[in-house]
Amino acid sequence: MAVNLLLVLFAYLCGAFPPGYVAGRLAGIDIRRVGSGSTGATNVLRTLGKWPALAVFLLDVGKGVAAVALTRWLWQIFPSLDPGVLRPWWELVYALTAVVGHSKSLWINWRGGKSVATGLGLLAFFAWPVALGALGMFGLVVATVRIVSLGSLLACMTALGLAVGLAIPLAYQVYTFLATVYIIWCHRSNIQRLLKGTEPRLGEAKPTGE
Ligand code: G3P
Repeated sequence: MAVNLLLVLFAYLCGAFPPGYVAGRLAGIDIRRVGSGSTGATNVLRTLGKWPALAVFLLDVGKGVAAVALTRWLWQIFPSLDPGVLRPWWELVYALTAVVGHSKSLWINWRGGKSVATGLGLLAFFAWPVALGALGMFGLVVATVRIVSLGSLLACMTALGLAVGLAIPLAYQVYTFLATVYIIWCHRSNIQRLLKGTEPRLGEAKPTGE
């Protein structure tokens, strides 16, 4: 139990690692002060360009997966730590902790991104067909209307529908539900702009900060 709780801290620290902030610093800016102020790949794309954005996206995906994958590896090496039937539920806790860590990072004053890439990576780890469907919806929306936040929100809803429809293990359905609610909450300023019709499309400037 104590080790599993320590692993929650480990998951948080993995999620809190901020590649977007590091990319900004390497380019001589504080990404929290430009564009949407998010440290996610979308704001890196509008601020630093496509290659830094791709690198940040992959690292944001990878850090969440690493948190849970390393835990599974630990359970294999030390079977006495394996929580058995509770394994998916502990994985849910680690995954959500990493997702929250991404947007509330202690390294950067409790700021961060909107947890889409980290949440999606973990979903792919738990149930790749669900993540693939969500990614498909994201690609479709972004390719047609060119609004990333709308793509993210609809991808979350798609993931939720698929998780239930494909009857993935209950703990992972609950993960999908809670991560979706959290990601929608992280997008509240985007939702306000979407409702007003002022959310910028890809390539358009965004008012500084949120
Ligand atoms: O994944 C984040 C995206 O949905 C919105 O990012 O920077 O436009 O608020 P941003």
